[in-house]
Amino acid sequence: MKGEGRYFERGVIRTLCSYPTKLFGCKCAGVCFMAVVVILLLFNPSLRSSIQLTTTPDTVGDVGFNDFHYKHLQRRLPQCIIIGARKAGTRALLGFLDLHPNIVTNKKEEHFFDRNENYKNGLEWYRNHMPLSLPDQVTMEKTPAYFHSEQAVKRVHEMNSSVRLILIVRDPVVRAVSDWYQLELKRLRNDGPSIPFETTVLRKDGSINSSNEVLQRSMYSVYYKKWTELFSPRQIHIVDGDAFVKNPARELEQIEIFLKIPHYLTEDMFVRNESKGFYCAVKTSGVKCLNDSKGRQHPDVDPQVLVKLRSFFVKFNKRFFKAIDKEFNWSSGNRHIKHRSRKRKSAD
Ligand code: A3P
Repeated sequence: MKGEGRYFERGVIRTLCSYPTKLFGCKCAGVCFMAVVVILLLFNPSLRSSIQLTTTPDTVGDVGFNDFHYKHLQRRLPQCIIIGARKAGTRALLGFLDLHPNIVTNKKEEHFFDRNENYKNGLEWYRNHMPLSLPDQVTMEKTPAYFHSEQAVKRVHEMNSSVRLILIVRDPVVRAVSDWYQLELKRLRNDGPSIPFETTVLRKDGSINSSNEVLQRSMYSVYYKKWTELFSPRQIHIVDGDAFVKNPARELEQIEIFLKIPHYLTEDMFVRNESKGFYCAVKTSGVKCLNDSKGRQHPDVDPQVLVKLRSFFVKFNKRFFKAIDKEFNWSSGNRHIKHRSRKRKSAD
């Protein structure tokens, strides 16, 4: 109970403070919290009457605020889910959206709809993992594994057939390299064998190993089709991950329109970190970049293999562009990898 109280307390403060912190730039959570309470009490009599402050003797002086019961502040099932794609920029997207006062996000990937061991716990369990939110805030979670899970499609639809979905995609070849590199680093961390990219994506006879998961996850058309069997394409907002890297604010504004929330995220809220090569969020506490596991420099891979893969993906890309009625420029991906490799070499 105590632990839950603390969790609730942190959630209350965080959610109540999201407005002043984001709008007025208060640095101190305590000051923000008090400011919100005073404003609510002074200016809104109906809210004033809806606040019940109670304390229970066994927790007084221990966890302080843990018995605030504020009827408008609740944990809600997500009204919007970032479903994928893995290694396409999902973490940066969620983190940047979290700056918006009308959006609350949970930081952990829930894996609720794709993993039976979580799904069996039921929707209440899932709801309890969501952050506290006010009625005009959109609750959002991201689990990129949902995009590739057929079970997730059905289960998300069962939860809420009108939920809004965001899919961020990236040049499929570069995404595959990024995905492989993440797996490779994990193998090496666990003293496993190194499996080069070329061995991963090609069979012994040199043909493309289309059953490999690293390549399959870049076949966006295949999985997008599954989602549109149950959801209207109007419910699925596609983010161009390569454009998002270059100018996050522009892509974020499209999401604000999609979510029908006020325009808030502007270019001055993001600053490019030249050494990292990616944008970081400008917060009152300072500039916050994603950690080193995001925006890694990819190792060199055989350019011939990249050429092969690029032509392999053409038919999947065409199908995807047709389905979403939009096209992305995914032909410059090889240059991107080479450029990054050069940077890595010169840094060594
Ligand atoms: P790389 O590390 O391969 O470059 P995800 O969060 O879905 O795992 O995606 C990780 C990818 O997000 C990174 O892949 C990087 O290219 C991309 N990305 C987009 N915007 C970013 C940002 N502002 N900071 C760091 N990485 C970002």
